[in-house]
Amino acid sequence: MNSDQFKATYNADQIPNGEVTYQSPSNIALVKYWGKKKHQIPENPSISFTLNHCKTITKLSYSKRETQDEKFSFDVLLDGKENVDFKPKIETFFNRIEAYIPFLKEFHFNIITENTFPHSSGIASSASGLSALASCLMDIESQVLNLSEAERIKKTSFLARLGSGSACRSLEGELVVWGKTESIKDSNDLFGVKFPFKVHDHFKNYQDTILLVDKGEKQVSSTVGHNLMHGHDYAETRFKQAHKNLTDITAILQNGNLEAFVELVESEALTLHAMMMTSRPYYILMKPNTLEIINKIWAYRAATNSHVCFTLDAGANVHVLYPENEKAAVLEFIKTELVAYCQNGHYICDQIGLGADIV
Ligand code: DP6
Repeated sequence: MNSDQFKATYNADQIPNGEVTYQSPSNIALVKYWGKKKHQIPENPSISFTLNHCKTITKLSYSKRETQDEKFSFDVLLDGKENVDFKPKIETFFNRIEAYIPFLKEFHFNIITENTFPHSSGIASSASGLSALASCLMDIESQVLNLSEAERIKKTSFLARLGSGSACRSLEGELVVWGKTESIKDSNDLFGVKFPFKVHDHFKNYQDTILLVDKGEKQVSSTVGHNLMHGHDYAETRFKQAHKNLTDITAILQNGNLEAFVELVESEALTLHAMMMTSRPYYILMKPNTLEIINKIWAYRAATNSHVCFTLDAGANVHVLYPENEKAAVLEFIKTELVAYCQNGHYICDQIGLGADIV
């Protein structure tokens, strides 16, 4: 698989001024992407549930520039305010995708973006944000290139990956695989592909309640964390394990073995954090309340027949995952036993969703 297939040549003069709005969700990895090579190539395959409610909505207006120079021209408003942190991220994104999007320097872009989840929730908005922006750009390209829906999504995922790796898994639902794995024929390192097999009914409308343990900025960004996997003592073992877990979860998602699902998903979450704790420099993103919640979930599972489990991304918040038919009982458990460990009692109820959409 070669990135050159995503290069396009056309005359950007054909594109009139306009605007487009897309919404794109966040996703939660079951087998984690942790460690990357140059050009946003993952060290191991990953798979995620696409979320439904945690979304970024991005309106992109574009107007022809009078004069051209070597710089990109754009303004960004995040939740109604200018955001200084966001500008360099978009600059980096534009630099990485310039070779694939011929019109980037021809237009001035006005990017108005908002998240459905609170900005300071500790929920990473890079997956939803960059997949929404990539979707808008591909909508413009679709005006001049006659792309099929499948081709458009593929290139959108390819571009989103160059913005933030996990963003390439947000374009479609309900499960997306990114990174070459022997268990999935069309999987590759350049873009996400839909999980191609029939998923067991147990996983239909799977629930994800996100417990907001710490809404602060992370001390160590994911990008820095990925880089700390270079020369990490356990890196090779971890990448091998992720490959095996991807193969195993491919079977589990089809056979509906919830006990095996719980064990694999929780092990992935703890391994991710174990990699952080054993990096040089080492660091810890979990908070005391993260551990309190994990212990409560284990105790609840031991006392009931529940299949509730947890996963974590690169932060202190806990994603509580459970089948739809356990919704009433687990929500009751969350309200009575877990909310006390959330900052200001805040949590977000989400579930599996279908990916990005034009607004
Ligand atoms: C722990 O996609 O945020 O959430 O490619 O540097 O932008 P960059 O990293 P990012 O890393 C996400 C890591 C993770 C696991 C996952 O989503 O697979």
